[in-house]
Amino acid sequence: MKGAIINYVQENRAGEYADVLESAGNIIKNGGTVIFPTETVYGLGANALDPRAAKRIYKAKGRPSDNPLIVHICDYEMLEAIADGISKDARRLMERFWPGPLTMIFYKKAIIPDETTGGLESVAVRMPANKIALRLIKEAGVPIAAPSANISGKPSITSGKYAIEEMAERVDMILMDEDSEIGIESTVVDMTMAVPVVLRPGIISQREILKALADSQEEYERLIDQHEDIRYAYYSALSEPKSPGMKYTHYSPNARLILLSSQEISDCLRLAGQGGNPPCLIDSKDMTKIRVLTTDQNMYKYGELAVSLGSDDREIGRNLFRVLRDLDEEGVELIFCEDFEEEYKSDFLSAVMNRIKKAASNINY
Ligand code: TXA
Ligand code: MG
Repeated sequence: MKGAIINYVQENRAGEYADVLESAGNIIKNGGTVIFPTETVYGLGANALDPRAAKRIYKAKGRPSDNPLIVHICDYEMLEAIADGISKDARRLMERFWPGPLTMIFYKKAIIPDETTGGLESVAVRMPANKIALRLIKEAGVPIAAPSANISGKPSITSGKYAIEEMAERVDMILMDEDSEIGIESTVVDMTMAVPVVLRPGIISQREILKALADSQEEYERLIDQHEDIRYAYYSALSEPKSPGMKYTHYSPNARLILLSSQEISDCLRLAGQGGNPPCLIDSKDMTKIRVLTTDQNMYKYGELAVSLGSDDREIGRNLFRVLRDLDEEGVELIFCEDFEEEYKSDFLSAVMNRIKKAASNINY
């Protein structure tokens, strides 16, 4: 396959790329694949209505074809064309959070092929806020199915540089902008239940979603209770078929990632430095191949091994996937990551920690 056509774009000048976006839109119309920026992470897009195009996405990512794709739309006409049973609650969430980093799951209409939804009767839909993404969908004239642009199992791609390095031989075009603003993927919420249930946490939290639906504090509390019950039932049903000990890797860098408290990391490093046999899995005898992911505030604890993700939750989220890829490029073999939730509490940080736990090899998450 020939390499992708690469185009540099800037969201704040989105109006100036008529030619580029027209040719990107044509690629999508004709069944091809385009990597494009969104506010969360880069997406690998193709025509959501074309089964062959959806298959090209799975092939480019090396992704199992039963893992459903998110369908990106640019207006409400597209939503009506693809989704069924859109509730009042869903309309309220759209008003509040679209365009933006919220993906909602609806029953699908027949126009959406099984290849796009991995055989499911439901479809995940998002109207992104990124102006390049919105214009691309408009040019294409069809909804765009787009998973994160990484090879399956790897950290999501949040910078154009890594889209090119990893995917240039696998897609037809790459639209490259600055680093993604949010840095972790959208919140996925199931709207087919009595109360919306978040399946994948993101920058819009379960709490914010229920708040947006409640007209009073009492109603909010009732929704929280109802949500707890449904979530409990949902997850106990889901966890049954999973075989114990089965490890599903996600977001994984080449280096081994170990999640520990800051105290545990310090203990490990101290023992390793003394030639001891630390309980915490240091297999690399080469200390130059070890790094510690931490915050600006805590860098001092780890000397030369420290790599900061930033000073607050938003920075940590924005930098996480890029830094994991940077460390791979440097040839780092072992990454200790601080458990950030120990020190800072926020719903967004919990969503970021969800990704770190999935990437970590010492946690069965
Ligand atoms: O921020 C994002 O959501 C990015 C950008 C490109 O929009 N996309 C993204 O797509 O993260 P992907 O394919 O990497 O993740 C889609 C998630 C998966 O966890 C998938 O299982 C879930 O959404 N999903 C998609 N359709 C679903 C459905 N019908 N029912 C349940 N889960 C679904
Ligand atoms: Mg993904």
